Amino acid sequence: MYNAKAISDFYDKYGMREWERLNLTAYDRINFYLHMHFLQDFIGEGKNVLDAGCGAGRFSIEIAKSGSNVTLLDISKEQLKIAKIKLEENNLLSKTDGFINGDLRDLSMLEDNIFDTVVCYGAPLNYLMENREKAVEELIRVTKPGGTVLISVNSKWGVIRSQLGREDFDYTSFFGKPDYWYINEVVDSGDLPQHEMVSHPPRHFFETEELENLLIKSGLNNVILGGSPCITSAFRKAAEAIEKNETAWRTILDLEEKAYCKRTMADNGEFLLARGTKLNRGLKG
Ligand SMILES: C[S@@+](CC[C@H](N)C(=O)[O-])C[C@H]1O[C@@H](n2cnc3c(N)ncnc32)[C@H](O)[C@@H]1O
Repeated sequence: MYNAKAISDFYDKYGMREWERLNLTAYDRINFYLHMHFLQDFIGEGKNVLDAGCGAGRFSIEIAKSGSNVTLLDISKEQLKIAKIKLEENNLLSKTDGFINGDLRDLSMLEDNIFDTVVCYGAPLNYLMENREKAVEELIRVTKPGGTVLISVNSKWGVIRSQLGREDFDYTSFFGKPDYWYINEVVDSGDLPQHEMVSHPPRHFFETEELENLLIKSGLNNVILGGSPCITSAFRKAAEAIEKNETAWRTILDLEEKAYCKRTMADNGEFLLARGTKLNRGLKG
């Protein structure tokens, strides 16, 4: 099912839309805020960071701004090109250690144990399909013992829930045609095959236990999970209204911060966040 060329073609064509993705609406800004909150203690002066599946570099910029040195890697040449321009516009090229056009399945161009922090945000792992275990092992291999791996993937339950928050959407037709939309297939296996109405290549959607087990099995310790957005998950219209009032916006961000790493909330978010520490004894003991 995995098709590297389909993914790179998709993101080459997606172009600047990927840069805009996290700043289009209030809802997207909550996602960005929580992803940064989850990451902030693991970047900063003196840290060597890999942004794996960096896309247009939204997080690479924040990583570089924090004082870390960042290496960017993506399967799409076009996304890397945009990321380079964005880092240049922000005068941050001196904080970049490289732009690598590569596939998460095989990071052999990178040595073992070289990064303090490895970030794989914005659902690159969803596209890995049957290669997701190999990709997670690669992310952990290049992390220093004691270093941190941070991941965000699209959540199976969160993605279904998010359909209910879409405006101008025919909910009855969607939930009324479960076979056509592969709803049960996604729920049972996590896999959404190529679909005539979905522009993305095939993806595997995750749930908390599955992701947690995969990370632990691959050599991470102290795994923490989160849901993004959490309290506001699927409530796009409410988020838009709330952002217009400073106090209301602060209140909702504070609530999100308090809630998003609660275990019972993690499956609710459109994105499932996870981070863990690489065991000192290395891969799989
Ligand atoms: C939705 S974007 C997220 C970009 C960025 N991490 C963010 O959160 O803003 C997903 C990115 O993952 C990349 N990607 C998907 N599959 C990949 C693979 N097998 N190897 C490397 N990058 C991949 C895509 O090219 C795309 O740029």
